[in-house]
Amino acid sequence: MSLLHCKIGSVLLNNPVIMASGTFGFGQEYARLYDVSVLGGIAGKGLTLHPRSGNSGCRLQETAAGMLNSVGLENPGISHFLHHELEQMAALGPCVIANLGGANCEEYVEGARLIGEDSKGRTLTGKRGIEMIELNISCPNVKEGGIQFGVDTEMACPIVRAVRDVTHLPLMVKLSPNAQDIVRMAQMCEQEGADAVSLINTFSAMKIDIHRRRSAFDNLYAGLSGPAIKPIALRMVHQVAQAVHIPVIGMGGITSVEDIIEFIMAGAQAVQIGTHNFTHLRAGEALVQGLEQWLRRQGIDSLEEIRGIISCV
Ligand SMILES: Cc1cc2nc3c(=O)[nH]c(=O)nc-3n(C[C@H](O)[C@H](O)[C@H](O)COP(=O)(O)O)c2cc1C
Repeated sequence: MSLLHCKIGSVLLNNPVIMASGTFGFGQEYARLYDVSVLGGIAGKGLTLHPRSGNSGCRLQETAAGMLNSVGLENPGISHFLHHELEQMAALGPCVIANLGGANCEEYVEGARLIGEDSKGRTLTGKRGIEMIELNISCPNVKEGGIQFGVDTEMACPIVRAVRDVTHLPLMVKLSPNAQDIVRMAQMCEQEGADAVSLINTFSAMKIDIHRRRSAFDNLYAGLSGPAIKPIALRMVHQVAQAVHIPVIGMGGITSVEDIIEFIMAGAQAVQIGTHNFTHLRAGEALVQGLEQWLRRQGIDSLEEIRGIISCV
């Protein structure tokens, strides 16, 4: 095992640095900029059963310490991904994580079934296929009038259970910081059979166009990410890591090796890098190299030496 090797359930990663969903496409564009095989994993753009064109109007806005997005899960749909993207994505080398969204329970279940079937049925010559599902429960529930599943544990529970029942792939549930109780949400995911939880998704936030006297976004609110949310994300990762026995994957505003170390000290098994990819196109490469150098300089032989060392007071 090298210094950086890292396990999420049964899945072995070369290192704990994963690119976050929605900020790295399916890896192809970044592969033109650097050797992305250095990464531990790539969580692909969020997929839904049917293609989605996403939200109208303004989709991205920079803020003082991060960004707001209202992309609205634009994606080509799972079938397109399986037939036209997966093989090239798997050939890049890092662990392929399929991020799955849905507007109702049936969509999540059918999507998970499709993704799982392919990983068993299709032979990718000498290459790996999808190794893990990241279940994004921060999607608006169409039947419940747009309330996010990920806010309410009672609403999220049947989805986690139903998806668990239809897939043998390792299942990581991605938690929303907008949850009424993120610790209870994580515990529910563990009870329902999740292999890991990842957190956090974006914070519900707002920007007003004062000249037009309306929200800057057609969808009214947007998701806040980037450095502004890091301290809160870190606190949430710490709380969740204390409360569950499954691996916790931390993210939210990571821009440096020191940030990664903080998340690992808070109890994270691995981390994801999102918004930072937009400002530093070769962020993944720099962070993987920097992490290894930092650990060597500190005389640390394994991430286990520092993982979760911040206990509760
Ligand atoms: C433009 C954009 C698109 C995103 N799309 C998705 C998505 O499709 N699925 C998902 O689970 N998270 C999505 N996210 C959330 C990120 O994966 C991540 O959880 C969040 O941005 C916090 O990490 P960061 O501060 O490092 O960006 C998106 C974030 C951004 C900025």
